[in-house]
Amino acid sequence: MEKEGKMVTIYVMGKKHRVPAGLTIMKAMEYAGYQLRRGVGCRGGFCGACATLYRVKGSYKLQAALACQKVVEDGMYIVQIPFTPAEKKLYDIEKIRPTPNVFVEHFPEITRCLSCNTCTKACPQDLMVMDYVQAALRGDIEKVVELSFDCIACGLCAIRCPAEIVPYQVAQLARRLYSKYILGLSEEVEKRVAEVEEGKFDEELEQLKRLPPEELRKRYESREIRV
Ligand code: FES
Repeated sequence: MEKEGKMVTIYVMGKKHRVPAGLTIMKAMEYAGYQLRRGVGCRGGFCGACATLYRVKGSYKLQAALACQKVVEDGMYIVQIPFTPAEKKLYDIEKIRPTPNVFVEHFPEITRCLSCNTCTKACPQDLMVMDYVQAALRGDIEKVVELSFDCIACGLCAIRCPAEIVPYQVAQLARRLYSKYILGLSEEVEKRVAEVEEGKFDEELEQLKRLPPEELRKRYESREIRV
């Protein structure tokens, strides 16, 4: 029996469900009885694990979203993309340098960019993906970093790119080069690494390892979060 309030119809992998309006896709799936073991992580729009494609009945448009952020619409056909099987480019950040050609050398496929903007339209973070791919072609590391700062590597741009570029990997390289060679090391991180190496947290870590799962959960849930 349906609860009070407005309900909408969604289709998850082709199966029809009635769910309350106003829920995110993720919550609606759980409401419909799915236990999410893949395609879910932070639930807050940060980790990129919940990439989802959908189409609304009557529309030709295939759209992309994060399941933990997008609210269900009536007549939504949903399919989750738990990960993008993209080739992982390997490089040693200690050996490569922030040269103008660094992107084309490691990702020659970016020269195939058609400037079609499909990647930008697919981005659930509303990033100018095509623009940062173009900046990478020009070797402009800082621009790639600036435009891709909020990328969560959900993979939806790569799935939609007709030139089979994996934009988020290009952005990742830019951010690595930027932080290593342009921005420099953070004092706080250096200090904390030194403290870890000196064993400052060893005892605390050992204590945590001995805690029963319930106590561990309690401490995790009441932890202080700095934003
Ligand atoms: S679950 Fe992490 S972004 Fe959606």
